[in-house]
Amino acid sequence: MRALLSMALCLLLALPAAAQDTPAPSNPDRAATGGAQTLDDILARQRGEPVDDSFRRDATGGDDAAGMAGQLGTLGGASDAEVWRALRYGLDDVKVSSGGPEARVLIQDGGMSWLAFREGPLATYGAYLLGVTIALLALFFLIRGRIRIDGEKTGRTVTRFQSIERFGHWLMAGSFIVLAITGLVVLFGRMVVIPLLGHEAFSTIAVASKWVHNNIAWAFMLGLVMVFFMWVLHNVPNRTDLKWLAVGGGIFTKGVHPPAKKFNAGQKMIFWATIVFGASISASGLSLLFPFELPMFAKTFAILNDTGLPQAVGFGVLPEILAPHEEMQLATLWHSIMAFVLTAIILAHIYIGSVGMEGAFDAMGSGEVEEQWAREHHGLWLEELQQKGHAPDPGPNRTKAGTPAE
Ligand code: HEM
Repeated sequence: MRALLSMALCLLLALPAAAQDTPAPSNPDRAATGGAQTLDDILARQRGEPVDDSFRRDATGGDDAAGMAGQLGTLGGASDAEVWRALRYGLDDVKVSSGGPEARVLIQDGGMSWLAFREGPLATYGAYLLGVTIALLALFFLIRGRIRIDGEKTGRTVTRFQSIERFGHWLMAGSFIVLAITGLVVLFGRMVVIPLLGHEAFSTIAVASKWVHNNIAWAFMLGLVMVFFMWVLHNVPNRTDLKWLAVGGGIFTKGVHPPAKKFNAGQKMIFWATIVFGASISASGLSLLFPFELPMFAKTFAILNDTGLPQAVGFGVLPEILAPHEEMQLATLWHSIMAFVLTAIILAHIYIGSVGMEGAFDAMGSGEVEEQWAREHHGLWLEELQQKGHAPDPGPNRTKAGTPAE
């Protein structure tokens, strides 16, 4: 029984380590170096293994050193190495004549892992995400072709979006496209633009991109707010969405037209993705526009920790105290990740709103759509318009809204 219990205990203790798949921190004998870093420490760090650095973190002179005014103080207080270590681990009491808490951070080696992540997984997976999205859309176009208006066109049109709606959409869309391009230049410029155009051209392009990116962000935020208030009521999910989703919106099958109101379930997903990701990109972007003024990650982590979610999904307890620079580093990474995800979603939206579907672009172009297009894609909305007298009467032989066109 006792053996069973101890086996179970061993298993339990071993599980978290196995789940994380990380070896235990190395703890080599440092007698040979007089307690200083060993080759093993350096190699373990290079292998990305966790190294218990308390042997350095705690060796900062501190109370052990004789005070400058005390006996033996003429020999100096903490040694240079100890002072540098204290600076590196943020333990020194740095005094500055100007600047906020960020000015008191003289060494912050989190910058290395930030750089490695930004130039490594972020750039690589971000590029994959956009590349695969474009490839899938091209494949979809090859297989399905342009989604045509199935029924006979009536030659009559109905007003789909008022000019203020189109203004809001294009303000947001135009600025987003410019932000996406300039953002990609800032992230990939060194890798792509320098080999293609050289350092000098890149310098001009990078400075211009950053300036445009920083300033046009306001247009995007304004457009986002406009779009939210103009369309939010039309984007509340309802039962019709389930019917639409059940047949994949008819996107994959010719002649299938599930009923939909002003926005179908697919568009509602685009809408909410734009709002949620757009707001998150805006918040992290503002935090970058006003460096060190709007830290938000430590607070967010504290809230998340309280929910128990990070612990449940294996992230452990997230740090609730972050150096000002760490806040900025996280803001840049979060900003880019969210932007990659929204760009991939928007690529699909641009496809379906332009080449992918006959008659769709008119909705945002002139604001007027072909009546038959409205019947096939937003049948319930057309019926509503007809009942209110805002659209021509359907007539006796017309296909009823929301049913497959013959
Ligand atoms: C060249 C680029 C774009 C084109 C051609 C385009 C086209 C369209 C069209 C035609 C509609 C109306 C669809 C309908 O009548 O039902 C629409 C709606 C919408 N657009 Fe765009 N759009 C573009 C860029 C963007 C961008 C960059 C964003 C967001 C950042 C965006 C967000 C939206 C949203 C949220 C809606 C309403 C929901 C929906 O219809 O999916 N669009 N767009």
